[in-house]
Amino acid sequence: MGKVILTGDRPTGKLHLGHYIGSLRRRVLLQNEGNYDRMFVFMADVQALTDNAENPEKIRRNIIEVALDYLAAGLDPEKCTLFIQSQIPELAELTTYLMNLITVSRVQRNPTVKTEIKMRNFEANIPLGFFCYPVSQAADITLFKATTVPAGEDQEPMLEVTRELVRRFNQTYAEVLVEPEIMLPENATARRLPGTDGKEKMSKSLGNCIYLSDPADVVWQKVRSMYTDPDHLRVEDPGKVEGNAVFTYLDAFSTDDDFAQYWPEYKNLDELRDHYRRGGLGDMKCKKFLNTIINNMLEPMRQRRHEYEKDIPEIYNILRRGTEKARETAAQTMSEVRHAMRIDYFDDAELIRRQAEYFAGGK
Ligand code: TRP
Repeated sequence: MGKVILTGDRPTGKLHLGHYIGSLRRRVLLQNEGNYDRMFVFMADVQALTDNAENPEKIRRNIIEVALDYLAAGLDPEKCTLFIQSQIPELAELTTYLMNLITVSRVQRNPTVKTEIKMRNFEANIPLGFFCYPVSQAADITLFKATTVPAGEDQEPMLEVTRELVRRFNQTYAEVLVEPEIMLPENATARRLPGTDGKEKMSKSLGNCIYLSDPADVVWQKVRSMYTDPDHLRVEDPGKVEGNAVFTYLDAFSTDDDFAQYWPEYKNLDELRDHYRRGGLGDMKCKKFLNTIINNMLEPMRQRRHEYEKDIPEIYNILRRGTEKARETAAQTMSEVRHAMRIDYFDDAELIRRQAEYFAGGK
């Protein structure tokens, strides 16, 4: 059986450097390596609506933002099927059947759901749709028979639920669904990029993001005011690189080539770190270097985005075609699911013949 990659994002905001380093960059590599038979990337608008029910306009607006971010980052609709979750009705259908194979208490134990309930102050009043989203996510993954799901650590509990559901389904009905594996980000910085304020995580609600679509001057404003070492007051002072966002970003984004090209006084990041620790190296110099690196990385994305923005109706066409393609796979799996569950009444000539015989024979 083929290897299938599937992953998605909730379209609740524009994508930022944290998304890029945590997953988007990897997806583009996976797409271009071509070691997988199929690759699906989708916008999880149904899931986004589970905690944004009153604000559909926000989701609607961000579909196009995320689509532009995907395309700008280098996802290629010829190699990777891009689609919108809500436009695949088979997902809702599979979710309904999977819900019979899991208990409320099993979902309650999901640590990611627990954290999200707290964060959203849902404790007293959890929307049922929100509560069920892990099952809906299991449907996202299994409907396409995904083998590999590139995602962050926080998604591991969803994958566990998915594997349990696959085993339950296959034991109860027939061997139709496929157990997926998570593909975690390659290293610690990729797992969690801090915000420009040095806080643990880059996130829209904290207002500490550099967006993939930020113009160069905005990136510079943000980099210039980045959190460093609060005790590094004068250039001569020794500085700390741990917890210093500028150095965390350099760790994530700089290469030895960047040093050779833009800062040949240092061979690599280790040498730069040593100098910073000893003292005598100012924050501003480091920030300028970081700014160059980030802008070099974002510039090709800006240019591609700019091209794509000229023809927005074509973006919707790309998503429509991707969705149609995804639906072919969805329909195929659902017909196997219905057959396995013995709810394929109209396609089962044998069933109809036998029932006719039974009733004709006076039972
Ligand atoms: N839960 C994921 C997130 O919050 C989005 C998502 C929905 C997803 N369905 C998925 C990710 C299936 C991977 C596979 O980002």
